[in-house]
Amino acid sequence: MTITLNWAILGAGNISSQFVYDLLLNNDRETEYHHVIKSIGCSNSEKGQEFIKNNKITAERNFDVTPVTQSYNELYKNSEIDVVYIGTPHNFHFKQAIACLENGKHVLCEKPITVNRKEAEKIFQVAKKNGRFCMEAVWTRFFPAIKELKRKVYQEKVIGDVHRLFADFSYEGDVENLPLTSRVRDRSLAAGSLLDIGIYPITYSRILLDDYVGEKATKFEHKSFLTIDKNDLVDHLASILIKYKDGKQALLTSSELVDGPKAYVRLEGSRGWVEMYSDNPARAKHFKIFGKEGKEVYEYKDNSGYNGFIYEANAVANDIHNGKLENEIMPHAESLLVMGVMDDIRKENGLTYDQD
Ligand SMILES: NC(=O)c1ccc[n+]([C@@H]2O[C@H](COP(=O)([O-])OP(=O)(O)OC[C@H]3O[C@@H](n4cnc5c(N)ncnc54)[C@H](OP(=O)(O)O)[C@@H]3O)[C@@H](O)[C@H]2O)c1
Repeated sequence: MTITLNWAILGAGNISSQFVYDLLLNNDRETEYHHVIKSIGCSNSEKGQEFIKNNKITAERNFDVTPVTQSYNELYKNSEIDVVYIGTPHNFHFKQAIACLENGKHVLCEKPITVNRKEAEKIFQVAKKNGRFCMEAVWTRFFPAIKELKRKVYQEKVIGDVHRLFADFSYEGDVENLPLTSRVRDRSLAAGSLLDIGIYPITYSRILLDDYVGEKATKFEHKSFLTIDKNDLVDHLASILIKYKDGKQALLTSSELVDGPKAYVRLEGSRGWVEMYSDNPARAKHFKIFGKEGKEVYEYKDNSGYNGFIYEANAVANDIHNGKLENEIMPHAESLLVMGVMDDIRKENGLTYDQD
């Protein structure tokens, strides 16, 4: 069976390029998913045309469709679009997601879905009211590597009882030499490592220490430190401690000041541990499992050639095809839970944004 989904891409920037790469590679491979890119919503048409050219969105790779470039407002009104992928900085998501939903579009919105929980609640209310599918694009959750890792750890119990997780997302971003208008430094664009990359270590703790999501999530406590930069007033260094009610703990870190460890995830159990490796800790593609004596007992590598966005895109296609309004791997309540944790962490450390 073929599932066809007509996409608009809102924002012709960095992450939209990476997302589109996967849709087109999927189309080249002639899978059962037909991801048709119908429109590029963009601040100016020339930039949109450049995006189409640079990302090689040709009719041959896109079911005979050459996408149009449109203003955001034209995109919201375009009746040929099923779903909008929102790839703009976090502070814009709220307004843009609501505009899409109110104009009858389904939405896949980059992480973090909003700047705080309050805004995310409102988006999901609007989605429900309009009967539209809406999901925060936490792509990490959809990688086959995650499913396999959870099977090994929680069904086969290869590392015994799970006790502790270290998870990090850090990169040396030369922050002090970036302009204050950069997305990494500009508080009005909701900059800060917690919202931009710290969300991933938190996601790993949610994935690897709890088998449930959203409303069924197991209770946990958390404590944190953010180091707030005196010039741009946002965090470039964050550490979070988590303790689940069954005693499992996580130490989660993010930074834009220093590179992190090669094994950005280390999950420890009574009979061994897991290490995950990647050029980008959000991309869950490679892990190894070690026994108690340090002997490697299992290795998994995703050699699909995709960036990894295709897994969430196909999940969205399935859900929309089946008339679902939310995804069971990344339901609204899970977004709200994580946004709430990040609200708490910011409150604990005095980091506010205008949206609060
Ligand atoms: N899933 C992941 O692994 C991942 C990785 C990176 C980023 N992200 C998320 O994706 C989102 C976008 O990040 P990005 O790195 O792609 O950002 P980006 O390239 O800096 O910006 C993306 C687009 O947003 C619009 N934009 C950027 N700055 C703006 C400003 N100051 N005022 C108005 N519009 C502006 C522009 O849209 P036009 O093209 O219309 O001008 C731009 O092309 C963020 O929420 C981020 O957290 C996710």
